[in-house]
Amino acid sequence: MSKTAELSIDGKTYSLPIYTGSENEVAIDISKLRDQSGVVTLDPGYKNTGATTSAITYLDGDNGILRYRGYSIEELAEKSTFIEVAYLLIFGELPGKDQLQRFRDDIKTHTLVHEDVKKILDGFPSTAHPMGVLASLFCSQTAFYPESLDPNRASEGVYMSIIRSMAKMPTFAAWAYKNALGHPVNYPDNQLEYCARFLKMMFALPAEPYAADPVISDAMDKLLILHADHEQNCSTSTVRMVGSSQASIYSSISAGINALWGPLHGGANQEVIIMLENIVKDGGNIDKWIAKAKDKNDPFRLMGFGHRVYKNFDPRAKIIKKAADDVLAKLGVKDPILDVAKKLEDIALRDSYFIERKLYPNVDFYSGIIYRALGIPVEMFTVMFAIGRLPGWIAQWKEMRENKEPIGRPRQIYTGQKERKYIDISKR
Ligand code: CMC
Repeated sequence: MSKTAELSIDGKTYSLPIYTGSENEVAIDISKLRDQSGVVTLDPGYKNTGATTSAITYLDGDNGILRYRGYSIEELAEKSTFIEVAYLLIFGELPGKDQLQRFRDDIKTHTLVHEDVKKILDGFPSTAHPMGVLASLFCSQTAFYPESLDPNRASEGVYMSIIRSMAKMPTFAAWAYKNALGHPVNYPDNQLEYCARFLKMMFALPAEPYAADPVISDAMDKLLILHADHEQNCSTSTVRMVGSSQASIYSSISAGINALWGPLHGGANQEVIIMLENIVKDGGNIDKWIAKAKDKNDPFRLMGFGHRVYKNFDPRAKIIKKAADDVLAKLGVKDPILDVAKKLEDIALRDSYFIERKLYPNVDFYSGIIYRALGIPVEMFTVMFAIGRLPGWIAQWKEMRENKEPIGRPRQIYTGQKERKYIDISKR
């Protein structure tokens, strides 16, 4: 017999179905509660609300577990590649050799963007943040591929939008950076694999040979895997929400890029480096900055610390911390902010404020240090996150469409004025 939960409101009892996930996560299904009782649930920030069922990513924040389609993040980061993980997330299974080859080749075929995209890029001043440029260029694909405006078209059409998204994202990202520099853009070199191709578009200068150091492209590939999906976070929920109105995949993902930009979400990786640099400039007085983070009258927060769902540790942060040591050693880079970051982490993890609130380093705490060592400029950090998160957004958009989910439309509790009479302007 299926389980139910009982809810009593004003002496009347309502029986609510209980939904159990494949990892025994339990949810009370309140979808019919309003029809039965006139009552809605209230949960600002969706702190305890499951907005969907999903078979893509499993996350257990209490035990620091993260799995894509059942495979542990630790194993994928060690043994897989970003393109393979993208295939896994989007299509549900690890690809066979031929499937992977086709996916990779299809992506390579579509890395070029329409020449007119350059005209759009030219319209941005070089002061434009690359995230804003990226979101705009991504959304501009609706103009170049108007057939994508119909998300219900045949699956081959959806496949092409997926391939184009994966293929053009690094081109848009590198071009957004070139715009900030005021430099001419580079075209994709399809002899190269995903990360090396991106790095060449980012860093090659006219008439100068460029080849990405394999240590750098391998480190980038690992970082992208770690960012590839994270179930119903702010940007992913945005992608699903926008897509639920049957907006195109390009506009849905563009909305996700904008949501990711904020400093409490993906923008935190940029803020962490700014914070660590400020601590170094300020003489390295870590205790002072810890005190600022704890002071409720000070808006400062320890960036790269805390997470809505991880209340033990963020498994991605563990992998990244080790990767930061490895990458810096391999590249022979000594970065004083790595030492500051480690000291800061050490002090915070022993401080009762952080212990009581279960605040641990998150994925963004050490990722910026690696990006810095790889030569990626700070304003591009969140763009790197977006490149990594793209397959997750695609997978979640595709799942939402395939499950025929209804349009997202939360309720509210109105707290404004009751009905009142209009006052003529002469009497106000
Ligand atoms: N520094 C100082 N205090 C903090 C921090 C922090 N980084 N994070 C949370 N707290 C405190 C907060 O003030 C509150 O204290 P109190 O109970 O006394 O009012 C308590 O911890 C709970 O915080 P919250 O803001 O209610 O928690 P949340 O789940 O709404 O927010 C968060 C999660 C990630 C937005 C928040 O921890 C934060 O602002 N962290 C810094 C920004 C950051 O690193 N963001 C990246 C997140 S990981 C990448 C991603 O997936 O987006």
